[in-house]
Amino acid sequence: MLITRTIAETRTAIAHARAQGKRIGFVPTMGYLHEGHLQLIDIARQHSDFVVVSIFVNPTQFGPHEDFASYPRDFERDRTLCEARGADLIFAPEVSEMYPERSLITFQIEKLADRLCGARRPGHFNGVVLVVSKLFNIVQPDIAVFGQKDAQQLIIIKRLVQDLNFPVRIISAPTVREPDGLAMSSRNVYLSPTQRAQSTVLYKSLQRAKTLIESGERDAKRVIAEMERVIATASEAKIDYIEIVRVSDLQPIEKLDGLVLIALAVYFGKARLIDNIILNVSDRAVREIAALP
Ligand code: PAF
Repeated sequence: MLITRTIAETRTAIAHARAQGKRIGFVPTMGYLHEGHLQLIDIARQHSDFVVVSIFVNPTQFGPHEDFASYPRDFERDRTLCEARGADLIFAPEVSEMYPERSLITFQIEKLADRLCGARRPGHFNGVVLVVSKLFNIVQPDIAVFGQKDAQQLIIIKRLVQDLNFPVRIISAPTVREPDGLAMSSRNVYLSPTQRAQSTVLYKSLQRAKTLIESGERDAKRVIAEMERVIATASEAKIDYIEIVRVSDLQPIEKLDGLVLIALAVYFGKARLIDNIILNVSDRAVREIAALP
């Protein structure tokens, strides 16, 4: 497995693989890898011949009071995990390599970043699309894999690729969960043992929403109220948001119908955890969508 730190050496290594007729798969990450990331590598491997993983904690997607400085980092552990999982190249640049100067070109995202995490973390998705665009230009992958756990990010990136004509196919991967349902996240490391035990309310509340909708409930407000009730059973949980939006444009929906995203963000101490499910709701049936098409 190759490790590159500069854009030039990354381009050279990937050009060499491409010259051998290999299809390039890409898994962008911020490191501190867990099984969820490793399954993204597996999926990339199924669709390509040369898998590139980027490890870069991107400063432009963190707000001034967020956890950029304390975000967990462990390159040696990540390197071992990537190698064991069969990645071909890790691109792990310094901030100065990716941003030798402050970028004067920025993005404006309409509609899709108005709600959910976009509303609570102003500028976050601008930073995400900036770095993902740069990474796509550096790696020039044929396919790139993103997890559904960050559903808003995934939907925005699909739209970025569509609107800016990036020649890459985005593949979405199902959320990977701990045995008790907690979605895997690098930020789970912030949880105290009590908070970790209580954090199962996130997935329980999503499952409760699904059961309610399966039994015929179509009123979003009532579903959200029930989810709040489930989360309130955890004394350390502080709800940031619970929202139900249409998948197509991430706008709120009152009467549930079609593809809907039920998403939440909840604080446990300094850990802000997010989770979601996507349901296909019709008059009669409800189906959970494991990965967005
Ligand atoms: O999902 C993440 O880890 C990050 O937002 C990403 C896509 C690697 C961009 O920094």
